[in-house]
Amino acid sequence: MAEAMITLKNVNKSFGKNKVLEKINFSIRKGTFTVILGASGSGKTTLLRLIAGLDFPTGGKIFINGKDVTQEEASKRNISMVFQSYALFPHMNVRENIVFGLKIRKVKKEEIEKKLSTVTKMLKIDNLLGRKPSELSGGQRQRVALARAIISERLICLMDEPLSNLDAKLRSSMRKELKSLQEKLNLTVIYVTHDQIEAMSMADEIILINNGKIEQHADPKTIYENPKTIYVAEFIGTPPMNIFNINLIKNSNIKLPENAEKAGVRPESISFERREIKIGDGEIVFCEYHGSETIYSVKVNETLINVKSIEGKHTIGEKISLYCNREQLLFFNREGRKL
Ligand SMILES: Nc1ncnc2c1ncn2[C@@H]1O[C@H](COP(=O)(O)OP(=O)(O)OP(=O)(O)O)[C@@H](O)[C@H]1O
Ligand SMILES: [Mg+2]
Repeated sequence: MAEAMITLKNVNKSFGKNKVLEKINFSIRKGTFTVILGASGSGKTTLLRLIAGLDFPTGGKIFINGKDVTQEEASKRNISMVFQSYALFPHMNVRENIVFGLKIRKVKKEEIEKKLSTVTKMLKIDNLLGRKPSELSGGQRQRVALARAIISERLICLMDEPLSNLDAKLRSSMRKELKSLQEKLNLTVIYVTHDQIEAMSMADEIILINNGKIEQHADPKTIYENPKTIYVAEFIGTPPMNIFNINLIKNSNIKLPENAEKAGVRPESISFERREIKIGDGEIVFCEYHGSETIYSVKVNETLINVKSIEGKHTIGEKISLYCNREQLLFFNREGRKL
């Protein structure tokens, strides 16, 4: 196992009486891509700023490469950061913004030009080098901020929602570029997003935070297949996992775990054909056609259940029965923890 590059031990952060982060513990290995995922206001940017040294924790310790940096200034940490708000110099043009750090470090002119050309081509901003930030769109500014971070070639790179202003197509191609760049340069990246699809598609590991606390820290497959809590189960997946009261399946001939209150099943695991467990008889109340698949919302008693199916032939108002197999069901207790 590679060495831990960044470790947080019992990190807390409060602003006045407001506890924004509580008991944050994790270790990130060198050369990995970690995504911090969470809803708006959950504490993602605050966490990133603590790691960067732009703010300091109220309690706990931060280690980089084994060294305690908890009270160390940002400039000493050798980390590059892409901010949610871009933070470009308004009086400098794109070229000057990107190469600013390299010039300060007295990198040779030819080397700067070479790197500038590679990075700006990759991010498709090589035609904008003479413009000021005020003459750019949000997505273009975002890519200039990314270019500035990438060109610095620091081994740790923190990114705060760096693709949020791009259209879907550009975002998807940038994801691939970023991921392959990270692998090529063996960068340790911490990437903040509230977009679970982005997290699932890019991360080696996901740290899902809910209201300042870590809900689960695992690889995408584990997060998807084995969510620790209902919160995680409902955060991930499009549409998310169906969660319903176990009364719905009490009549099935299966042994339910002790203390089970809720059951969960992914929309793609539900079938219209007979399987081990009958979830119930219902009525289709909504169809969402996606081309290769259709999402049906089916009302069973008072519970709405989403089904993802490659069959597009069913229609609103149709009466239909829902089934699944035993191994596709997860059970949760009253506190929402998986059993
Ligand atoms: N300097 C500050 N002073 C007081 N409260 C703050 C400060 N910075 C952040 N907060 C509060 O801390 C909480 C977490 O904020 P943070 O910016 O870390 O959230 P976030 O997860 O990055 O959200 P978003 O996805 O909207 O960017 C919020 O409730 C916010 O209001
Ligand atoms: Mg934020």
